Amino acid sequence: MTDLHNKSFSTRAVHAGERVPPGDYVPVATPIHPTVGYLYDSLDDLDAIFATTREGYVYPRYGSPTVSAFEAAVANLEGGEAAFAFASGMAAIHVALLAAGVRAGSSVVAALDLYGATYTLLNRLFAELGATVRLVDVTDLAAVEAAVAETRPLALMAETISNPLLKVADVPALSELARRYGAQFLIDNTFASPYLFNPLAEGADYVIHSATKYIGGHGDVMAGIVVTSAENRRKLYELNKLVGSVLGPFEAWLALRGCKTLPLRVRQQCANAAHVAQWLAAHPRVARVNYPGLPVHPQHELARHLFGGQGFGGVLSFEIAGADKAKVFRFMEALELCLPATTLGDIYTLVLHPATSSHRSLALEERARVGIGEGLVRLSAGIEDAADIIADLDQALARAI
Ligand SMILES: Cc1ncc(COP(=O)(O)O)c(C=O)c1O
Repeated sequence: MTDLHNKSFSTRAVHAGERVPPGDYVPVATPIHPTVGYLYDSLDDLDAIFATTREGYVYPRYGSPTVSAFEAAVANLEGGEAAFAFASGMAAIHVALLAAGVRAGSSVVAALDLYGATYTLLNRLFAELGATVRLVDVTDLAAVEAAVAETRPLALMAETISNPLLKVADVPALSELARRYGAQFLIDNTFASPYLFNPLAEGADYVIHSATKYIGGHGDVMAGIVVTSAENRRKLYELNKLVGSVLGPFEAWLALRGCKTLPLRVRQQCANAAHVAQWLAAHPRVARVNYPGLPVHPQHELARHLFGGQGFGGVLSFEIAGADKAKVFRFMEALELCLPATTLGDIYTLVLHPATSSHRSLALEERARVGIGEGLVRLSAGIEDAADIIADLDQALARAI
């Protein structure tokens, strides 16, 4: 394997996880291993692998070589001891919460402003199973501390940059608070990507990605991954043997391939999002723009500090003045370059209406409490030329609004 010690992020993005020799030769790019069985000369070897006293593969629900390469790559990029991959980001979140020990009778404090399915997983499924879930605005540290002090949660959970309102969590302060109260801190780092921010270095226990987004990056693969300690990885491994939300070798290969261009893509996406946010902020038909890169954003300085001035992310959201769902739909239909698809983090610029898609599972009053109105549009900047993205938004706003 290439020695990556002391190498920069871009170099590690290209080489991490690759070149584990399967025999007496070394493939430059990790192959796709679509087998369900693995043969050993000695059954004692198989037995040792089952017992986890020896590394190796017995059955792909337990682990497989292409998936291991992807896990090694993301563990490296997040600066973590180990990683475990899943078939989706939601599976990663679900199993990470189980690994943190969330069960009937335990308590969780989580950000109010979370991806809709995460919100519903916690607030409905885990709550129905007997966990107590308290949702708070994580940008209000006093409110978080009050909730943590009162409920003594097993786990605190937030998104580094929230979906869809782009609030930035003070990860070092939240880690410190979680530690002080004996809670484990889980952070969904999907929007920041490992290029902008590494939460483990700031004390997080579990870092979660929907690798469907920036890590995969090309809109062609669904995957999730959790980066954590070797000890926590063993818990994820044991749980997923039972849950069975396994990443396939073809998907792992695509996701690993995505890692290589992550810094190039995210740099361009951050630059494009910054241009679009500035342009939208000056548009007469736009009432509000949520983007951490704008100086008026409440966590602008925090974001600059956390992300080391490398950028402020590729996603923004904006409120079209006085627009209802029908108006927003006409605007999205009028777009000719930007794609109205239900995802983010791709090379293509994408727009989405959170109230009817990513946050559809929330009741009207829940969406109102979070602050997701009918006129809110989320935009994920692609890697096209910013001037072309802006021209498309301009013509669509002029035609539809
Ligand atoms: C921040 C965030 N976390 C998790 C997920 C879930 O990931 P997946 O769709 O890969 O299950 C999403 C999906 O949009 C997301 O935006």
